[in-house]
Amino acid sequence: MNIHILSVIPELIESTFSHSIMKRAADKGLLQVKLHHLRNWAVNEYGMVDDYQFGGGAGMVMMCEPLVKAIEELNAIHSFDEIIYLTPDGERFNQGIANGLSLKKSLLFICGHYKGIDQRVRDHFITKEISIGDYVLSGGELAAAVIVDAVGRLIPGVLNDETSALFDSFQDNLLAPPVYTRPEDFRGWKVPPVLMSGDHRKIAEWRNEEALKRTQEKRPDLLNED
Ligand code: ADE
Repeated sequence: MNIHILSVIPELIESTFSHSIMKRAADKGLLQVKLHHLRNWAVNEYGMVDDYQFGGGAGMVMMCEPLVKAIEELNAIHSFDEIIYLTPDGERFNQGIANGLSLKKSLLFICGHYKGIDQRVRDHFITKEISIGDYVLSGGELAAAVIVDAVGRLIPGVLNDETSALFDSFQDNLLAPPVYTRPEDFRGWKVPPVLMSGDHRKIAEWRNEEALKRTQEKRPDLLNED
C-alpha cells in the first residue's frame, strides 16, 4: 500500500513511520508512507498557503490553489483510491473504517491547519472526511499518524502472527480479554488457572467470556452496534 500525506508540517510525524511495526511494514515493502510539504505548491515565494476568510472572523483558511495543484499533481502519478481530509467534523474513525482502508492500494491524506481548508477543495476533491474523536487538534497530522498506524498494521503480512489482528479490541465489536505473562505467581497474584491448563478449547471459551464481560462493563454501547 502507498500512503501519501500532504501537510504544512510534515516534520511533526516523520519519525512515527520509522519505528516498530510501521518500520517493519516499510522494510517488507508492504507499506510506503510519503510525506509532501504543501509549501512546495505555495502561491508565492514566501510560501503562502493560507489567507483570511471571506466574511471576516478569526483564523486563516488554507487556500484552494496550493491544495488543488498538489492534489492534481500527486493524483496524476499515484491515482488515489481515496483522498481523505482529516477534520473534526468528519466521520468518527473506528476499527471498521481502518479495516476498509487497509484493503486500498493508494491513499492521500490532507492535513488541515488553522480554520481548515477552503470548502471548494472539500466539495471537488475529497472522497472521505475522517475525525479521530470529538476534540479539536491544532492540525490533521497527528490524526493522519493515528489512522496510518491503525491501517498499516492490518495489511496482510505486516504483523508477524498473521492472526493476531483478529483478536484486537474492537474486531467483532468486543474489547480484548485480559492477558498475562510470566511469572505465574507475582506477589501472590496468580494467573487464572485455565490459561495454564493447555486446553485450547477451554482457553478460547474463557477468553471469549472475559471479552464479553469486559465489553459489558466498560463499553456496553459496542454490543448494540451492528
Ligand atoms: N483536525 C483537527 N482536529 C481533528 C480531529 N479531531 N480529527 C481529525 N482531524 C482533526
